[in-house]
Amino acid sequence: MSDKLKNKVAVITGGSSGIGLATAKLFAAEGAKVAITGRNKDNLKKAVDSIGNQAISITGDVSNLANLAAIFQQVEAQLGKIDVLVANAAIYALAPLADFTEEMFDKISDINFKGTFFTVQKALPHMNNGASVILTSSVVAEKGVPQHAAYAASKAAVRSLARSFSAELLDRSIRVNVLTPGPADTPVFDSVTNTPEEAAAVKAGMAAFAPVKRIGTPEEMAAASLFLASADSAFMAGAELLLDGGIRSL
Ligand SMILES: NC(=O)c1ccc[n+]([C@@H]2O[C@H](COP(=O)([O-])OP(=O)(O)OC[C@H]3O[C@@H](n4cnc5c(N)ncnc54)[C@H](OP(=O)(O)O)[C@@H]3O)[C@@H](O)[C@H]2O)c1
Repeated sequence: MSDKLKNKVAVITGGSSGIGLATAKLFAAEGAKVAITGRNKDNLKKAVDSIGNQAISITGDVSNLANLAAIFQQVEAQLGKIDVLVANAAIYALAPLADFTEEMFDKISDINFKGTFFTVQKALPHMNNGASVILTSSVVAEKGVPQHAAYAASKAAVRSLARSFSAELLDRSIRVNVLTPGPADTPVFDSVTNTPEEAAAVKAGMAAFAPVKRIGTPEEMAAASLFLASADSAFMAGAELLLDGGIRSL
């Protein structure tokens, strides 16, 4: 490893699973002091043990503003001011437009859109000038896919936030960029299926849909996040890094 984040303080929301966990592991291996968050305490504990470099975990829901304020206060008290913030926590929900309930709509908006907005707001007082903020969108933010309307719109909102936040935070030299994954092999598909076989079938369908004929790995997304987190991307602000196996362009 090349110590690209040596002694930097990095917070990854939703760091107990999938892309967030792979990112936490890579950042810790690159020398960062890492804090992960999530709602499930047991999952956080298991994850933190696998990250190393004395990573810490803090329980909290990103759709709860009091939780967010407490999380960032605790990060600063335990690790110091934040250099890298990855707003990664999100949920996925699929249903035809006709069947999508108000409850599903509110939940996805609260966690994915409002949660990302207030994650950045509540972190700001605890962030160093020159910090890198990474918001997590999705390839479907700019591609029409059946059953994805609310999720896709929440991720399009996140893409937009990065532009506005970045413009507003220029005076503190805080860069806000977006990581845009296409389908990646994480436990998220378990949340929208009933059996492991069903989840495998959804992933196989997505692999067939992707021009490169496979889905991505959490490690590929983590490597892109490292680029956005480090000085390597110093000339990027308000922009987007797309890792989608060609889905949007080909
Ligand atoms: N995997 C893909 O194919 C894919 C494609 C495009 C974009 N993305 C985006 O990439 C990011 C990571 O996805 P993933 O596939 O790695 O997801 P995942 O494996 O399902 O992990 C989601 C993480 O977010 C946490 N989380 C969920 N709701 C939360 C809340 N309200 N408050 C705090 N933490 C919460 C989860 O922990 P708890 O449940 O314990 O809270 C978990 O740590 C998401 O933003 C997702 O939308 C993923």
